[in-house]
Parts: sequence; C-alpha cells; structure tokens
Amino acid sequence: MTTEQQPRVQWLGRWGFVLAATGSAVGLGNIWKFPYMTGEYGGGAFVLVYLVCILAVGVPVMMTEIAFGRRGRGSPIDAVRRVVTESGRSSAWSILGWMAMLCGFMILSFYVVVAGWSFSYLWKMLSGGLNGSGVDDMVAIFVANNENPFNLGFWSTLVTLATMLIVGKGVQAGIEKSVSWMMPGMVVMLLILIGYGVFSGGFGEAWRFLFSFKTGSLSSEGMLAALGHAFFTLSLASGAILTYGSYLPVRSSIARTTFGVAIADTLVALMAGLAIFPVIFANGMSPEGGPGLLFMSLPLAFQAMPLGTLFGILFFVMLSMAALTSSISMVEATVSWLVDNKGITRRTAAWGTGIVLWLVSTLAMLSFNLGADWTLAGRHFFDWLDYLTSRWMMPLGGLGMVLLAGFVLKSESFREELGLAPYWHALWLFMVRYVSPLGILVIFVDALGIARLEFGVHWPWLLAVLAVITLIGELLSPRLRRTLAS
Ligand code: TRP
Repeated sequence: MTTEQQPRVQWLGRWGFVLAATGSAVGLGNIWKFPYMTGEYGGGAFVLVYLVCILAVGVPVMMTEIAFGRRGRGSPIDAVRRVVTESGRSSAWSILGWMAMLCGFMILSFYVVVAGWSFSYLWKMLSGGLNGSGVDDMVAIFVANNENPFNLGFWSTLVTLATMLIVGKGVQAGIEKSVSWMMPGMVVMLLILIGYGVFSGGFGEAWRFLFSFKTGSLSSEGMLAALGHAFFTLSLASGAILTYGSYLPVRSSIARTTFGVAIADTLVALMAGLAIFPVIFANGMSPEGGPGLLFMSLPLAFQAMPLGTLFGILFFVMLSMAALTSSISMVEATVSWLVDNKGITRRTAAWGTGIVLWLVSTLAMLSFNLGADWTLAGRHFFDWLDYLTSRWMMPLGGLGMVLLAGFVLKSESFREELGLAPYWHALWLFMVRYVSPLGILVIFVDALGIARLEFGVHWPWLLAVLAVITLIGELLSPRLRRTLAS
C-alpha cells in the first residue's frame, strides 16, 4: 500500500520551511569555510562576488528545487517523476531524483563523522579535557581523537542516533519542532559570542580581515570558490531542499522563502566570522579554515581567555546544532521515499535508514584509523564520498534540474508553481536556462582541471559566451525541447 493518495503533511508554522531549510543550509560550510575564504580572497570584495553568485546560481536553482518538490509533493524521486509525467515527458528523468537522494545520503555518511568531532570537542570542553594544552598538545589531541575507532565511532554513532530520533518523529513533531528552537538558539549563541569578541581586543582586526575591500586579493580562484560555495552552502542538489519543499503550503511564495533562506544563510556565515576571528586575533594567532581552525586554534584561543571555557562550550554547542540541523535534512529524502513507497511507518524507515547509514559512515570513520591504508586512487573512502558528492553529483544534479525546468518541461507548471509576475518569471527563466548552467559548467571545468580560468582576463569572454548561448538557445529552444524530450 502506498500513501500517495493521502494529502502530504505540511509545515505547521509560517516559518517552518524557512527555519528548516536555513537549518539545512547553515552548516560547517558557514563556519569553517566561508569566514576564512572571505578574509583570504578580498574581504568586502569577495562578499560582493559571493552575493552575485548566490543571486545568479544559488537562488534560481533553489527556487527550481522547491518548485519541483511542491508540485510533485514527494521525495525527489517521486516528485521529479510526477512533474515530468505531468508535462508528458519520459519518467526516466527521475534518475535526477535518485541521484539527489543518493547524494544526500552519501554526504551524510561522512558528515556524521565531522559532526562527531564537534560533539566530542564539546565533551572535551565540558570535562576539562583540553585544559592546559599548548599548540602541540592540540594537534596531538586531535590525532588521538581520530586514532581510536571506538572513540570516533562512538561520537558519529551518537550523531546518527540523534539524527534518526528527530527524523523518526516526523516532519512536524521532529524536524520542525527541533529547528524551531535550535535555529533561534544558534543565532542567540552567535550574538553572545560576537559580544564576547567585541571585548576580546581582536574585534577591529577581525572586522578589517573580513570586510575591508581588498580588490587585489580577489583572484580567479577566489571567484570560483565563491561560485562553488554558493552552491554548497545552500545544500542544493542533494534532495534536502526539494523534500522540504514538498511540505511547503501552497500559499507560501517560493521566491520569497528562497530569498529568506539565502539571506539568513549569508548572515549566519558573516556572523560566524565575527564570532571566531576576534578570538583568534586577540591571541595573536593567524587565521585559517577547516578542522585546524575549529578543533585546534579556536580551543587554544578560548583557553587563554577569561571565561574562555564557558564561551568555548557555547561555541561547540552552537556548532553541534548547526551540524545536526543539516544532518536531519540530508536523510529526510530517503526516509520520505521509504514511507511513501514501501508502506512502512516513518519510525521504521528512519531506523532502517539509520542502520545502513551507520554501516557506511563507519567505513568512512575508519579512514582515520584502522583503514588509514585503504585507499583507492589515492583517496580514502571518506574523501571519495566528499569528492563524488561535491565535485560530481551536486553540480551534475543541479545542472540537470535547471535544464529540465528551463527547456524540457511545460512552462505552465513552473509559471503556476512559482506564481511570479511575468517579468520576474522571464528573469527566472533566463537564469535557469543560461546563467545558472553556465555557472555550473564553470565550476565543473575548474573542478576537473580541464582548464584554468582566469576571470581577470576571461570575464568579457564569459559574458560573450553567455550572450551567444542565450541567442542560440532562444532561437532553437522549441526544437531543443523536442530533442531533449524524445
Ligand atoms: N549547506 C551545508 C553547509 O554549509 C552543507 C551541505 C551540502 C548540506 N549539501 C547539503 C547540508 C545537503 C544538508 C543537506 O555546511
């Protein structure tokens, strides 16, 4: 029996979707990647480029995904299949849904390990396990934390359990309820941490690092990083946003909610920078990104400051929440697909998925200890999951979605679903047909190392290419639509 005939659950509150989708979007990327990238690649100048990328690629792709979800009212697989069959196109396109669902699951398989780091450092802070450690000790502690599979496995298992517990309770009682206190809680904690930063003595330097306009440091590499990050930070093409969109009430405007999520995600990323870097600079340390920043420099810096342990604890609570609100979104696509198609309860679906997830994530976790030698083409299993999802599946899935929406499907479906004024709709169409695909192709070309793009020299060319493909696309589009659809 399937539940297809029953009306789909919807978010209860007005802010349900925005909170849940922001929870998905705000994750480690906002905290360990964005602030550091901003400082390195030109401060205010980078922020501007990033905003352009969010507008050109992030927002149109996100709107498309939500529209697919709400129109198809189902998991990525079912939703895409229903929307394409409604347009009379081949249901083979639902392969895009399969890829998105698999992508979310694969990201989660290594994400729980990283989230486990956050929980384990929260515990270390609480139990005083980091007290009196110097620089070398911090490195040793991080290594030791990873070296013992039972220790590392304990924390990733804990994250898996927490994720499944929330998802198993359902969309309203589990996901919506948890994000409705975790998201505001995160913001309050960030504000407190920023306040602490203001008095730490490093705030001015952090502000300059993040916001002064250093056009000279804005390299092509920086622009590409902005483009790739715009895609990653909004959790696109991994089933999360699409599935959350399938619970969106009809009365909500997709464009407005998308902008809400994009703005909130960016604000949190900027706030994270203002919370982290003052503490780092106040201790005369140099900025960095990634695990080194969160699990070595930052604990060291907190330790050296008055009330540092307290604020350090606050920081890791905030980080753990950011990770958890992302992890629940990655698995929701799979759980909702199981519930709709296999006639099982949500609880069973969640625990079943949890067991498979636990097995796969344990393999990823072992990359740091027992399986340190198990590599394929130079990559550990953990790195393969990351590489395949962020370099291949996310860009390919996003490209497929926008081309499908832009060229293949009946335009009425999206006109109805997005409900935009005609000129805004035309702008969205222009974006999903030409601008976003070109942006995604650029990410691809760079990621695969096919060619080194120099924006300083090449951007007029890029605009020319955009103009040419737009012209050709518009001239050929009815035919293109027929060909692609056959
Ligand atoms: N947006 C998350 C971050 O910034 C990472 C992420 C990528 C993600 N794809 C996702 C989160 C899919 C949830 C679902 O850290």
